[in-house]
Amino acid sequence: MNISSLSKKSKSKLKSAKDLRALEENYINLLGRNGEINLLLKNLGGLPQNQRKKSGKALNELKSSLEIIFRSRRDYLKEKSFSEELKRDSLDVSLPGVKDEPGTLHPVTSTIMEISDFFVSMGFDVHSGPEAETEYYNFEALNIPEDHPAKDMHDTFYLDNGVLLRTHTSPVQIRTMEKQGPPIRIICPGRVYRKDSDLTHTPMFHQVEGLVIEENASFSVLKGMLSDFINNFFGKEMDLRFRPSYFPFTEPSAEVDIKWKKGWLEILGCGMVHPNVLDMSGINSKRYSGFAFGLGPERMAMLKYDIPDLRSFFENDLRFLKQFK
Ligand code: PHE
Repeated sequence: MNISSLSKKSKSKLKSAKDLRALEENYINLLGRNGEINLLLKNLGGLPQNQRKKSGKALNELKSSLEIIFRSRRDYLKEKSFSEELKRDSLDVSLPGVKDEPGTLHPVTSTIMEISDFFVSMGFDVHSGPEAETEYYNFEALNIPEDHPAKDMHDTFYLDNGVLLRTHTSPVQIRTMEKQGPPIRIICPGRVYRKDSDLTHTPMFHQVEGLVIEENASFSVLKGMLSDFINNFFGKEMDLRFRPSYFPFTEPSAEVDIKWKKGWLEILGCGMVHPNVLDMSGINSKRYSGFAFGLGPERMAMLKYDIPDLRSFFENDLRFLKQFK
């Protein structure tokens, strides 16, 4: 047996182990119970006396120096893997953070809030109602009977069992009158639906309904209130006209136009609540009168911010929405 070549080979095996697992494996192969060196020690008995002593001593010395090499290599590899781990998991606190960009209110939402704020300051309460409505609240109670031609103007989405998607926010008027006696001053913003889609129509859009029921609500109060609102909304004195119109639930009825780039543009509908509507909802039309109005926040926002296409409100293009920060 050539101890010196064994010593060279085994020392280099331990010294060159790349990681802890390889080191462990080499250690077991050399110094384990059935390792190379222990096997040699076991076989010493077959050697002549003088050689046995010499080889035994040399093997034991090799054994203890291998132990020392093993431990120092193990410490080194442990240290190395630990510092590599640290490097991998380290956090560069000087890197700029990933920022969450704060969102903004949708222009339709902020327009509705602006409209509501104005009327709240005039003593109105904000009400809401269901978007899936019955024929009764959406039409009949608003003086639009089954075969009324005005019904054709509302291209209605019908659901099952006589339920429909409300075509306007006027049903909230009825629900409020049924529940609450006069005086009433409410504003009802919400989504409405019509089968319609082009540059100026989307199947879903918003309306803000207003209703006032008092002992002497008059058209002149309505006119004054709406004029104040419009001037306030656009931030300047606007050219307005109240143009006679027709709604089954108001009499007389009017539409309000504003002067816009040389032409007249319709921005809302209004009128004195029809006595039939008051009576059907349990309000004495002999004693009380009222007025109502309905306006479109999308239309108002389009004018105020000069937006040419109604559909841009609903496409969720961030480049469009970010302009309203
Ligand atoms: N509900 C009407 C519409 O959708 C608008 C309106 C409301 C007109 C209240 C008059 C009074 O067209």
